[in-house]
Amino acid sequence: MVEIAPGAVPSPNIWNSPQVYEIENRAVDPDGTLESAMWAIRPWAGATVLDLGCGTGFHLPRFAREAARVIGVEPHSALAAAARRRVRDHPNVSVRVGAAQAIPLPDASVDVVHVRWAYFFGPGCEPGLAELSRVVRRGGAIFIIDNDATRSTFGRWFRRGLPSYDPDAVERFWARQGFAREPLMIRWSFASRADLAAVLRIEFPAELAEEFLREHEGCEVDYAVNLWWRCP
Ligand SMILES: C[S@@+](CC[C@H](N)C(=O)[O-])C[C@H]1O[C@@H](n2cnc3c(N)ncnc32)[C@H](O)[C@@H]1O
Repeated sequence: MVEIAPGAVPSPNIWNSPQVYEIENRAVDPDGTLESAMWAIRPWAGATVLDLGCGTGFHLPRFAREAARVIGVEPHSALAAAARRRVRDHPNVSVRVGAAQAIPLPDASVDVVHVRWAYFFGPGCEPGLAELSRVVRRGGAIFIIDNDATRSTFGRWFRRGLPSYDPDAVERFWARQGFAREPLMIRWSFASRADLAAVLRIEFPAELAEEFLREHEGCEVDYAVNLWWRCP
């Protein structure tokens, strides 16, 4: 039976359709813009990296190339099990079930935290931020990746899907928490229209997904993101 750690934010895209979310992950940022931006701020060579809300562990092998140790933490036990299967040949990677509000790691045990589209969506995530302050060592860095709803094709779609979203309030929240904002432009690059359609259908209500497909040609989507970061 699937167990879900207390405090998990329901994530229907990956919880219900992990195979389609895998297609989405493969399409995200083929240019490595996010990785280069994080590396320029705080490289993880020889470091301990925490990927919090790691889902099926898509990013774990990538961090394992340079890091001494990589830990994935994920509240959904079936996704954590999939992440474990993905990294079974990586001796420096482990996966635990847990949530941001109670990270199953000792104090000052992590150098770099990567959180991608998971739990840290602005106001309300303070308990997880307190946990990050506890587990990250001095000299480390926290990276949080989320949508920039103010620009790009994806940003406009996001606002149409969630009209109540207030990007200014979210930005003020991160500034108050001491995070810097690095606005980045990435892209989705799909192998086929069928893949784009499948991903839109797990990310948006059915009617909107069909509208976006009618409006948008091709297999590429420009996608603005914010990299929020802080060095404790
Ligand atoms: C959209 S998915 C992204 C997964 C992964 N970061 C990736 O990029 O492939 C969001 C993930 O956040 C996880 N999540 C939800 N609530 C969480 C919490 N309170 N603490 C940590 N992770 C959480 C979900 O279970 C899900 O795996």
